[in-house]
Amino acid sequence: MHALALLARVGSLGAAIWAGFHLPTLLLGALAFLLFVDFQKRRHPKNYPPGPWSLPFFGNFFQMDFKRAHLSCQKFMKQYGNLFRMDLGYVPCVIVSGLPLIKEALAHKDQTIVNRPMTPLREHMFSKNGLIMSSGQVWKEQRRFALTTLRNFGLGKKNLEERIQEEARCLCEAIEEEKGQPFNPHFKITNAVSNVICSITFGERFAYQDAQFQELLRLLDEVTYLEGQKFCQLYNVIPWIMKFLPGPHQTLFRGWEKLKLFVSHSIGKHKEDWDPDKPRDFIDAYLKEMTKCAGNTTSSFHEENLVCSTLDLFFAGTETTATTLRWALLYMAIHPEIQEKVQAEIDRVIGRLQKPSIGKRDHMPYTNAVIHEVLRMGNILPLNVPREVTFDTTLAGYHLPKGTIVLTNLTALHRGPMDWATPDTFNPEHFLENGQFRKRDDFLPFSIGKRACLGEQLARSELFIFFTSFLQKFTFKAPANEKLTQKYKMGLTLAPASYRLCAVPRG
Ligand code: HEM
Ligand SMILES: *[C@@H]1O[C@H](CO)[C@@H](O)[C@H](O)[C@H]1NC(C)=O
Ligand SMILES: *[C@@H]1O[C@H](CO)[C@@H](O)[C@H](O)[C@H]1NC(C)=O
Repeated sequence: MHALALLARVGSLGAAIWAGFHLPTLLLGALAFLLFVDFQKRRHPKNYPPGPWSLPFFGNFFQMDFKRAHLSCQKFMKQYGNLFRMDLGYVPCVIVSGLPLIKEALAHKDQTIVNRPMTPLREHMFSKNGLIMSSGQVWKEQRRFALTTLRNFGLGKKNLEERIQEEARCLCEAIEEEKGQPFNPHFKITNAVSNVICSITFGERFAYQDAQFQELLRLLDEVTYLEGQKFCQLYNVIPWIMKFLPGPHQTLFRGWEKLKLFVSHSIGKHKEDWDPDKPRDFIDAYLKEMTKCAGNTTSSFHEENLVCSTLDLFFAGTETTATTLRWALLYMAIHPEIQEKVQAEIDRVIGRLQKPSIGKRDHMPYTNAVIHEVLRMGNILPLNVPREVTFDTTLAGYHLPKGTIVLTNLTALHRGPMDWATPDTFNPEHFLENGQFRKRDDFLPFSIGKRACLGEQLARSELFIFFTSFLQKFTFKAPANEKLTQKYKMGLTLAPASYRLCAVPRG
């Protein structure tokens, strides 16, 4: 009797426990477990920079406005100061502002904050290869090789200057064909700019009518835009789900794939008539480096890196400079009085017939100041290119562990109300003093330190020669009854929204 009652009790206890494990409870338990794991994963080490509260799984992802990413964290900057954290999913990320701290992060700490973050998006498309987003040994070898090879093929030499002058002449001819009617200069500019880096990497330039090349430039533009979009960035937070979903990220992958195919195709053609003793361009030189390293399994000079490094040069050498020139024309059309002053200086120093050359830059402080102001206002890489902490380090007294992403807010630097007379208005006087060009320390569009832009010199030469060639030949105006604005389109770069203008030949 007693035993039986006990048995019944145990039985009902079992039933009670079983009843307790009904579905909602199970789910709740699982959720609590996940949240606990999530909490552990999102915990920051001691003395980590402060920042806003963050969501489970997504971190501060939804507090970032990807359409206005460069402006989106103003309130946090006000609240937490020049160093605060923003987690993107489980990826710890800090945002650095203010000249002293930015200099410290980019230049003084360029031994410890020198990697690039490997995001799932990048990993999917480039693995760990290439130049822009690689890290460690691969980056060191690829960067060193690219720098020497670019120098050998003309960086800073007379023949490259002639190449740019010739391309500027072709571009001006193409613009002239518009006969002063409204047109969108976008792809003509991109094509001309791209031809300069293409002649170094692929050993050839492409005609503005080449439909296949125009399609590649369109793809380059599309991937630049798409990769900055929220939907694509969501891939970085939850790749295991996004992988199976259709959407813009799949378009992005296809775009990069086609661009890689173009590069591999060109490499194939190079191999057919390759002469190791007569390297014609970057690809030829790379093929030679590969034979030197053949059989060395630790070397990064292999076919896959050849494709990725070449594509990186093609991409970085095209989008940035072309976008800056599009800003330049837009600002000139919006500010006719500034355009006139540039033209007067060109007429005085170069004249109407002579080709603009770099040597003239030092005698043209106004034009030089205008180009700098275009870089400041255009602000095409508003949060720089992300870096990643390579070894545990400190910044402003805070602890930054290995793997933390560091974004430097160049917008804050270039638009600081205390440092610039008219921070949000185009004004070349920012770079002038008594009519002379004024160099400024708080101006870092190409960044600084070991990881700074590898093409700064090339970009500066291109900007000067293209820009002066344009204004030597044309006056840029808004089409009748159309208003030009500074509206922008945010992708990997901050680009002007599509616009039309008239290029009126100068009488
Ligand atoms: C107006 C034009 C340009 C601007 C504003 C610009 C700006 C930048 C910036 C801010 C970075 C990141 C630096 C850092 O992390 O500290 C960068 C990297 C880079 N740029 Fe440029 N750039 C321009 C033109 C070019 C050109 C013409 C080339 C062509 C060779 C180029 C090639 C690169 C490469 C390869 C990197 C990656 C360097 C590395 O990670 O080691 N850029 N650029
Ligand atoms: C960068 O600085 C600008 C200008 O001060 C500010 O509006 C913006 O919110 C900052 N962006 C980020 C991501 O901190
Ligand atoms: C192989 O490549 C690595 C990395 O580039 C280099 O350090 C090493 O010296 C090379 N070994 C030989 C035998 O060339």
